[in-house]
Amino acid sequence: MPQDLPISKTAQAVQPFHVMKILGEAKALQAQGKDIIHLEIGEPDFASLNCVHEAVNQAMQAGLTHYTPTLGLAELRQKLSDFYQRFYQASVPPAEIMLTPGSSSGLQLLLTALLNPGDKVLLTDPSYPCNRQFVKLLHGQVVSVPVDASTTHQLTTDLLKTHWQTGIKLVMVASPANPTGSVIEQSELVKMAQFLSEQNAYLLVDEIYQGLVYDRPAESILANQNLGENVLVINSFSKFFGMTGWRLGWLVAPLHLMPVLDRLGQNLFLAAPTLAQYGALRVLEPDALALLEQRRQAFQIRRATLINAMHRAGWTINQPQGAFYIYWDVSNLTEDAEQLAMDILWNAGVAVTPGKDFGDYKAKQHLRLAYTTEPARLEEAVNRIVTYLSTR
Ligand SMILES: Cc1ncc(COP(=O)(O)O)c(C=O)c1O
Repeated sequence: MPQDLPISKTAQAVQPFHVMKILGEAKALQAQGKDIIHLEIGEPDFASLNCVHEAVNQAMQAGLTHYTPTLGLAELRQKLSDFYQRFYQASVPPAEIMLTPGSSSGLQLLLTALLNPGDKVLLTDPSYPCNRQFVKLLHGQVVSVPVDASTTHQLTTDLLKTHWQTGIKLVMVASPANPTGSVIEQSELVKMAQFLSEQNAYLLVDEIYQGLVYDRPAESILANQNLGENVLVINSFSKFFGMTGWRLGWLVAPLHLMPVLDRLGQNLFLAAPTLAQYGALRVLEPDALALLEQRRQAFQIRRATLINAMHRAGWTINQPQGAFYIYWDVSNLTEDAEQLAMDILWNAGVAVTPGKDFGDYKAKQHLRLAYTTEPARLEEAVNRIVTYLSTR
């Protein structure tokens, strides 16, 4: 690499995903002919639905390959509004919905719209790692709230009040969450939103795993009455809808923010991918949603399979209510979860994600397991880990 050509300090400060190291090693082992069970990847193993492919093909044949408006196709914004009404009894006008290239872009847009350099964003440790990096890119400051199993690794209003500081503009939560799969009760979310409204701060709720819940109905904060103008939501076609590679998400924001979000979108990406938007129009049809419900049930079976196998192995696991993750406390097995992840990969052929990817707090005590593979493979993964641990 040339010595004198500059890379910005901001870019240098952005952290890598440690799981990529595991993924790289896993791929190398596979190339040598080793059978690797992948529990590290945070995306459904199912491909996107055939009906989506057909709809996108038709759109392509019809030449619908141009930019859409920056806020997204009007039909899709309407359809998402109908979706909120039908499934969540939530009244969300299309004018408050914007399509984005993945929810990743929605997160960046909202943060860009709200933060000045030095502004603070409160989030939990552990939580989805990219959020911290987005804040850094905008020269904001992260206020990290350590959370553990006593609050199912989620923020509570009490914790929020305890950790409150002047300068916090925004609080970010996810329900269900990555890496824990835990859910925040709606009553708690509403209390947080109210407290933040009194502080003139925003609450951003990441609902990207909405629909992937197992012992309870899927929910949205938007279904609550009398919410203030300070509630923001991001969502995505990636997880429940199984369309990670199509790079399409959406955000819901109060009307007063839409012009600035539109202006930022015009500059940052012009519009979300057009063909993905036609695919999304199709995936919101009842027959497609019925197929996705079957997939949700498949995840539920996988969750039960993995948890039962882990219980049989004698490991203590709390059952997460959503997403497709288990955040496994391995403190009785190691003081260094990242090393354990490597050892498990090399000796048991099972790839998992070290807690380090999600923050610092008790990160060395945790591994994230994604049940994004067949039940038989999940059982085999646990058996292989048990065998390895017994021979250490
Ligand atoms: C909690 C959470 N939010 C946002 C994202 C971003 O997803 P996408 O950009 O595919 O919508 C992810 C991806 O794994 C996630 O886990």
